[in-house]
Amino acid sequence: MTTSDIAGADLSHVDGVRDRIAAQLTRARDRSRLLTDAVDDHDLVRQHSKLMSPLVWDLAHIGNQEELWLVRDVGGREPVRADIDELYDAFKHARSARPELPLLGPAEARKYVGEVRDKVFDVLERTPLEGHKLIDGGFAFGMIVQHEQQHDETMLATHQLRVGEPVLDAPPPPRGGPVGPAEVLVPGGPFTMGTSTEAWALDNERPAHQVVTEAFFIDTTPVTNGEYVAFIADGGYTDPRWWSEAGWAHVRKASLVAPRFWERVGDQWYRTAFGVTAPIDPRQPVVHICYYEAEAYAKWAGKRLPTEVEWEKAARFDPATGRSRRFPWGDEDPAERHANLNQRHLTPAPVGAYPAGASALGVHQLIGDVWEWTSSDFHGYTGFEVFPYAEYSQVFFGPDHKVLRGGSFGSDQAAVRSTFRNWDYPIRRQIFAGFRCARDASRDESV
Ligand SMILES: [Fe+2]
Repeated sequence: MTTSDIAGADLSHVDGVRDRIAAQLTRARDRSRLLTDAVDDHDLVRQHSKLMSPLVWDLAHIGNQEELWLVRDVGGREPVRADIDELYDAFKHARSARPELPLLGPAEARKYVGEVRDKVFDVLERTPLEGHKLIDGGFAFGMIVQHEQQHDETMLATHQLRVGEPVLDAPPPPRGGPVGPAEVLVPGGPFTMGTSTEAWALDNERPAHQVVTEAFFIDTTPVTNGEYVAFIADGGYTDPRWWSEAGWAHVRKASLVAPRFWERVGDQWYRTAFGVTAPIDPRQPVVHICYYEAEAYAKWAGKRLPTEVEWEKAARFDPATGRSRRFPWGDEDPAERHANLNQRHLTPAPVGAYPAGASALGVHQLIGDVWEWTSSDFHGYTGFEVFPYAEYSQVFFGPDHKVLRGGSFGSDQAAVRSTFRNWDYPIRRQIFAGFRCARDASRDESV
């Protein structure tokens, strides 16, 4: 199985909520299997980076969360393995400590997740999908599908950190194309942010609420490798003018000189992706940079990062109707022509590769390709309510985490929407993150 075999996401032929849930669960499991079967047992149990869990931990943790929520809570069934809950509680053990735990081995972990899944299919068949908030519209199942897909993206990031022969394979992304003007003007005024109607939206995306913005410009595309090289060549990493105080302290302490996984040979920059080293593609969005690097580039370019409010308005606002769309291109679920998602390709696509995915205002590649750093700290919206557990997002609220939007080539469409919010520390680079710039519109420009 190659990564493209699991990317078929068109579920439009699937009738009924139960069948759709079953199909989504199966897609997620096919991907987990692909990512764990791709390496041998030694690679599954070892730690490829202190930032990441062993792949075998992610696998059993996926099963454990599924057991807790769907087998025990929704299904009211006896535990499958109550003895391992503590090992797979993400809040009990730091990632760096997980290899030392008495974890299930690869064969045991595979058997465990299979047993849980068999019970879940039985629960799915017998449970009415209405009557209380946790199961209305299949929410708990959708939450577990998203949880597995989120861990699959994390496992993909572990693959990127793994050193060794390439084990993943996928076709190249579509070619780039024209994108029109470099910036798009987003008009000032109100728009609806967040959602109260998306059945599987998670607590931090809720509720829908009105936000008023000033007019602003946002880049039509994410910042590319070619543009980023110009920042490096201009001495961007050695000039404190472009860096915030915290960013400058970090860039010096960590000795950053380029995006992670980049290497310079002569005049050429190379990037290593999933074990394959090749010259950078100047038209692809830059990936594996931290928040501070994005912030410094934006300042060097005479711009700034968008707030998450601005990002979401650029993605969703339809000036013809004044309403907010589910996705930049409209309300329909993502199709292959809209966005680089689902691990269909193992790299961001060149700019202009997805004209059908542009927003009403003409902004490209907001969904897929690279997560985009915003300047916003991660907080709950006004009216936020924890649901169904505080450890999903509430415990991360505060100034330590920056919000990222839009998903990456490694995000599955079950776990990405225009309202979806991701967050991470501003120093993190192992995630598939890039950015685009924004700037204020002057009074003359905004009319
Ligand atoms: Fe988790």
